[in-house]
Amino acid sequence: MGDLSVLPAKRFASKRQDVWSLINEAAAASPIQPLVNMGQGFFGYNPPDFIRDAAKVAIDRLDCNQYAPTKGRPRLKEALSSMYSPHWGRKLDPNSEITITTGANEGMPILGNLEPSSVANQFHLKGMLSVFMSFIEQGDEVIIFEPYFDQYLENIRMPGGVIKCVPLHPPARGDSETCSSSEWTLDIADFEAAITPRTKMVVINTPHNPIGKIFSREELQKIGDICVQRRIMILSDEVYDSLDYVPFTRIATLSPEIQRLTLTVGSAGKHFFCTGWRVGWVIGPAELIDYVAFAHTKICYCTPSPLQEGAAVAYEQSLTNGFWSQTKAEMRAKMDRFCEVFKELGIPYTDPEGGYFVLANLAKVKLPADYVFPEHVKNRRRDFKLAWFLIMELGVAAIPPTEFYTPEHEHLGEQYMRFAVCKNDDVLDMAKERLRGLKAYI
Ligand SMILES: Cc1ncc(COP(=O)(O)O)c(C=O)c1O
Repeated sequence: MGDLSVLPAKRFASKRQDVWSLINEAAAASPIQPLVNMGQGFFGYNPPDFIRDAAKVAIDRLDCNQYAPTKGRPRLKEALSSMYSPHWGRKLDPNSEITITTGANEGMPILGNLEPSSVANQFHLKGMLSVFMSFIEQGDEVIIFEPYFDQYLENIRMPGGVIKCVPLHPPARGDSETCSSSEWTLDIADFEAAITPRTKMVVINTPHNPIGKIFSREELQKIGDICVQRRIMILSDEVYDSLDYVPFTRIATLSPEIQRLTLTVGSAGKHFFCTGWRVGWVIGPAELIDYVAFAHTKICYCTPSPLQEGAAVAYEQSLTNGFWSQTKAEMRAKMDRFCEVFKELGIPYTDPEGGYFVLANLAKVKLPADYVFPEHVKNRRRDFKLAWFLIMELGVAAIPPTEFYTPEHEHLGEQYMRFAVCKNDDVLDMAKERLRGLKAYI
């Protein structure tokens, strides 16, 4: 028989091990078990009863066990309209301005996955949508800010997009003092310099993963104004919007012009502690949403129906049952509880304005000179070595953020380590107890 080996697509063939599998494998190999896993941003606890019950009820319903409407179940879109219309200052049309996706992740890439001609055949194209159409051409550029949510990369590359990175500058005193995430700054001149005639889109993430930064109104206004001037579309990833510890601005609401260019992505998984449900959504101008919904139909047809219904009930009830304020207060309390250990140890951190990640700055931690790291860690930046060391010596897993940078800017993140605090308090306490072991290395 001849050679039956099958080659993967070139874009994946040379892929180095990603941070998630590297950290998970290291965690499994750690001599300290059970490991405290503060790496990936999954919740260590269940959604409240009213949310789980809603999904259980839905699964008994005939209409919920078949394909959902491709743009999403009407009840969910109506619930999202009720929730978000006050922010937009007008009634969002649930039928034309909101579409449901399979997690926020699916909401993001779909913009780039269409053949222009196939869309053109489906819709009467005009105005901004025509600008969109050119976005998906091979070689079109998308600007993202570093550090970025790593999922963006392949999502942009798959349709042939070219990534242009603009770094957020860490606070100069970040190695020695605790700073606010607002001190990670965007130099608007860097953003303008990254724009070329081929720039089709900028991706904004606020509240930001991993920094916890909430982009200020002024920053967003500047970005938005430039995008309007240069006709650049905005994808605003706001999946952590319920965890805002300072005033939060949504770029889509800054002006009608910015709104026409903006698609806002959100996640029921992040809102309701059920990332496994894979229910996300996109809000935007009707003609752009049509386009998104069409792509969604081609990618996966529709999003799991009973979980959409569960999410719909969750959004409806959360409008009046105090869920949002409780969630925010509880998450902030978890953040404060966990960060006590850094205060004790004199380890500076970036105090997040939003979300559930905290970046600790471990510049003060001295790794033993003779410590033996495996090959695949030895060649990476210092944060990978720190992550390995924490897993193997202290039994705590966290994420090295240089994974979220291009090689050119990796040095900006190599002293930091990302911890997810969306865990039970006893887990946070165990992590703190173990991290006290760092004292010996400071
Ligand atoms: C910034 C950001 N955007 C999007 C997502 C994905 O959200 P979902 O689970 O709804 O796909 C995540 C998940 O970690 C994230 O951190």
